[in-house]
Amino acid sequence: MHKMSKLCFLALLSVTFMLIFVLTTPYSNDRSSYAAYEGGIDPRKTRQFKNIIVHLDLKGAPPRVEYLIEFFKLLSKHHVDGILIEYEDMFPYSGDIEEIRRDLHYSENDIRRIIQAAEVHNLEVIPLIQSFGHLEFVLKKSKFMGLSEDLIDLNTICISDSKSIDIVKQMIEQIRRLHPNSTRIHIGADEAYHVAEDQRCIERMEKESIGKSDLKLEHIAKIGKFARENAGFETVFAWNDMFDKESEETIRKSKINKFIVPVVWGYRTDVTENGYFPDGLFERIFNVFDRFYVASAFKGADGARQQFSNISRYLENQKSYVNLMDLHKNAAAQKVDGIFVTGWSRFNHFNALCELLPVAIPSLIVDLFYLNYQLTEKDAWRAMKSSLECENRRHLRGILAESTVHGCKFPGADVFEIIMHDWKRAVDRRIFGKPDQQPSPDSEAIEILKNLKKSLNQSILYKTDADEVFNQYLHDYHSLIAQNTRTEITN
Ligand SMILES: *[C@@H]1O[C@H](CO)[C@@H](O)[C@H](O)[C@H]1NC(C)=O
Ligand SMILES: *[C@@H]1O[C@H](CO)[C@@H](O)[C@H](O)[C@H]1NC(C)=O
Ligand SMILES: *[C@@H]1O[C@H](CO)[C@@H](O)[C@H](O)[C@H]1NC(C)=O
Repeated sequence: MHKMSKLCFLALLSVTFMLIFVLTTPYSNDRSSYAAYEGGIDPRKTRQFKNIIVHLDLKGAPPRVEYLIEFFKLLSKHHVDGILIEYEDMFPYSGDIEEIRRDLHYSENDIRRIIQAAEVHNLEVIPLIQSFGHLEFVLKKSKFMGLSEDLIDLNTICISDSKSIDIVKQMIEQIRRLHPNSTRIHIGADEAYHVAEDQRCIERMEKESIGKSDLKLEHIAKIGKFARENAGFETVFAWNDMFDKESEETIRKSKINKFIVPVVWGYRTDVTENGYFPDGLFERIFNVFDRFYVASAFKGADGARQQFSNISRYLENQKSYVNLMDLHKNAAAQKVDGIFVTGWSRFNHFNALCELLPVAIPSLIVDLFYLNYQLTEKDAWRAMKSSLECENRRHLRGILAESTVHGCKFPGADVFEIIMHDWKRAVDRRIFGKPDQQPSPDSEAIEILKNLKKSLNQSILYKTDADEVFNQYLHDYHSLIAQNTRTEITN
C-alpha cells in the first residue's frame, strides 16, 4: 500500500512535470519554418517582405559576367525577385559622358548577357544610377569637376547648374536604352554631403526665395519625374536620407511623393534603436507616400576595410527590420512592398574594398533563409550549410562561427575558403601572436595572397581588381601590430 501510493505520487509528479513542460514550452514556430524550408514550400506568400531584391554594388571588385550568371542562379534558388545593379563606372556610357566609364567596364554585349541571364532566372533587373550625391566617379574627371559643389570632396553634383541635370538625364537615357524591359529604376540620392554650398545654389535660393530643403527635394522630384515620364520607368526608387527629416508639408510641396518610392536604409545591427531613424519618419512616410521599401545589408557595412564576413552581425540587421515592421504594423502591412538586401563594395568610390562578394555569400544565404522562413539563427545557419552543400553538415552545437563553414559548393567557395580560413589565420597570428615570437613570416602571407589572387582572377574578377585585393590585403597585413592579448587573458 505504502509502495503503491509512493508510485502513484511519482506518476502524478511526472505527469505534472510533463504538463508543465508542455504548457510552458512555446509552440516551436521555428521547427515548423524549418520544415517549410525542407518541404520546398514557396515562402513568397508567408514571408514578411513581398519583394526581396539583392543589391550588387559594382563600384569595387565588379564580378565578371560569367560569375554574375552563376550568382543569379543562386539568388533564384533562394526566392529572390530581383537584383538592384549599381553600375557606377562599369556601365558602357558613351557620347558626351563616355569618360565616366572606367577603362575596364562591361561592354554593351556584357550588359545584354547579364540581363538575359537575369531573365532566365526570373530576376528583375533594377538599374541604379546616382543622381545627386556619390557622384565621385563623374566629378573626379577633369571635364566634370567644375560641377562639384565642393572642390575637395567630390561627392555632390551642383544641382543648380543645368549641365549637371543634363549629365544625369543622359545617364538615365543610356541606362534605359540597354534596359528596354525594366519597369523600375533607382536614382540613388543618398549622402549628398554638400548641398547649397556653391555660389550657383546660393544665388538661386536667393533669386527664387527658397530654402535648402526645397532645393534638395525639387531636384529629386525633377529626376524622378524625368525617369518616369521621359524614360518611362513605372517605379523610381530613391534613398530616403535626403528628405527623412522634412515635414509632410515640404515633401508634398515638392511633389516627390508623386514621382518616387522611398527606400529607408540602415545597416547597423539594430535599426529599431531609439533615435537611429529620425523621429516620426514612418508616420510621415505613411501619410505622404503610397508605398516604400526598406534596405538592409549582407556585406559592406562592417568597416571600410573589412576583409572577413561576420554572418551573425548582418543577420541581426535583418532581424531588426522584421522587429521594426512589428513596431510599425500599419505602415508595414499597408505600405511596405519589399526589402533591398544590399551588399556594398566600398563606402565610396575613393575608399578601399570591403568584404568581397564570394566571402559574403554564406552571409547572404543565411539572411535570405531568415527573410524567407523566419528561421532561428541556428536553423538559418543549418539551412545555409545544407543548401550550399558544406562539408560540415553536422551542425556543431551552438557554435555559429564562420570557421565551421567549410568545403561548401557555391560560386567562389574557394575564395571564401582562402580568405576566411587561411588568410584569417595568418592575420589572427599577426594580431594575437606573442611579441617575443616572430610573427608569420611575410613569405607565408604572400603565398596565401598569391593563391587568392589566382583564384579571384581565374573566374571571378578582372585581373586589375584581383591585383587591388592583393595590394590592399598585403598593405593592411603590414599595418597590423602584433599585440600580446594572451597575457591580458591569463591575468
Ligand atoms: C524584352 O522582352 C521581350 C519580350 O519578352 C524579349 O523578346 C526581349 O528579348 C527582351 N529584351 C531584353 C533586352 O531583355
Ligand atoms: C560579429 O558580430 C557580432 C554581433 O554584432 C559581434 O558580437 C562579434 O564580436 C563579431 N565578431 C567578430 C569576429 O568581429
Ligand atoms: C587571369 O585570368 C585570365 C582569364 O581566365 C587568364 O587568361 C590570365 O592568364 C590570368 N592571369 C593571371 C596572371 O593569372
